[in-house]
Amino acid sequence: MRKVVRLSILGAGTVGGGVLTLLRENADLLEAQTGKRFEVRHVLVRDLSKPRAVAIPPKLLTTDPQRALCDPKVDVVLELMGGLEPARSLIRDALQAGKHVITANKLVMAVSGDELIRLAQQRGVRLLYEASVAGSLPILNALQGSLAGNRISRVVGIVNSTTNFVLREMERAVDAGEPAETAYDAALRKAQELGYAEADPSSDVEGYDAQYKTAILARLAFLQYVPLESIYREGITHLSGRDLLWAKRLNMGLKLLSISERLPDGRLCARVHPTLIPRDCPLYVVRGAFSGVWLQGNGFQEMSFHGFGAGARGTASAVVGDLIEIARHPRSLRIEDPSLRPGETAPMETLTMRYFVRLVTPDENALRALREPLQLLGAEFQPSETLDNGVEQVVLMPPLNEGEFRARLTALREQTGVAMQVIRLL
Ligand SMILES: NC(=O)c1ccc[n+]([C@@H]2O[C@H](COP(=O)([O-])OP(=O)(O)OC[C@H]3O[C@@H](n4cnc5c(N)ncnc54)[C@H](OP(=O)(O)O)[C@@H]3O)[C@@H](O)[C@H]2O)c1
Repeated sequence: MRKVVRLSILGAGTVGGGVLTLLRENADLLEAQTGKRFEVRHVLVRDLSKPRAVAIPPKLLTTDPQRALCDPKVDVVLELMGGLEPARSLIRDALQAGKHVITANKLVMAVSGDELIRLAQQRGVRLLYEASVAGSLPILNALQGSLAGNRISRVVGIVNSTTNFVLREMERAVDAGEPAETAYDAALRKAQELGYAEADPSSDVEGYDAQYKTAILARLAFLQYVPLESIYREGITHLSGRDLLWAKRLNMGLKLLSISERLPDGRLCARVHPTLIPRDCPLYVVRGAFSGVWLQGNGFQEMSFHGFGAGARGTASAVVGDLIEIARHPRSLRIEDPSLRPGETAPMETLTMRYFVRLVTPDENALRALREPLQLLGAEFQPSETLDNGVEQVVLMPPLNEGEFRARLTALREQTGVAMQVIRLL
């Protein structure tokens, strides 16, 4: 690779701005690390007149993707626009043109990662995407590098910092005696005011963002193609302040977890759902807008990563790390994909888990009618409580088959009309 590495940056928003800042602030360090200088030749944006947090010389700005991609002098294209299209096509075009690509785009890598990784290998260029999962936490590098000699058995992560912030805010609100019923809406509003959640927060709060990241993590941890549709997804929109209050009473934390694991029968199970975790779980301390990933493997046993992963500088740290890797090893081909084959995945209904069930009803007789069937399943009853909207009864269930337990609960709900909140335990 040449002494000067020339870059096209697609996108100058939060992450693009952060990358431009780090490239400037740390130029001497980057040169010391790689023996090369980095020169930005094009910055692709939608709107040339938009005010930018970072000063960008006007001659670098363009709205023409071809200008950014077809320049023969450009060595590396950094895709920091987001969304599926046109980002995916631009990555494809850049790889076809023989350019290395760095992306922070989990959606593209979850949906089309396999195709793009193969294309990069065919073209003899690098495609790196560390920033697409947990921002600055070097989890993808660890899985492909230092930890690659381990058989990974489980990856558990808090990979969406927006929902982690919302859950922490809900916990704070109920601790402060604010109404539990409105805790979710209030916490989401606060996350939006602080810029942690978007105006349309559905990708975060419905669990899609975590599902994309789970697909990427599971593929690298288990060297198996993991179709998005095979990853169970449940968001946090149905959670109430009462659930956070109970988590605290039970000495647990309530988190939106990404879980992928190899089951004893060899099948892979990948899922995203709210989960109650014990205090001694390494992810218990991951609070607010932080991310964390906890790994288990047959060599290192267990390891966790925890940090303020996202935002302009956090994400830029991972992008610039990828850039250094390319400058040092432009031709190194890691085993990222060729051996990946579709393997068997385990549907949720076949898993065995423990459950927290919160029953609420204005009708005490209905609650009494549930007692015996739940007892037969091994329920452990917590003291019931009278609320404004009825009586609340929490039960903890022993390990049960998900499919059978869900079917039983649906039948009991239909018989009694009792509202049921079900949360899985780790
Ligand atoms: N923000 C984070 O904390 C974070 C963390 C990890 C990963 N990521 C990922 O990083 C990527 C970028 O996120 P971001 O937060 O920086 O997004 P952002 O602030 O919305 O910035 C997107 C940038 O891309 C440009 N852009 C978007 N669509 C375009 C198009 N069709 N043509 C030309 N330019 C276009 C925008 O131009 P204008 O400025 O002219 O509108 C803007 O500069 C996403 O894949 C995201 O998932 C973000």
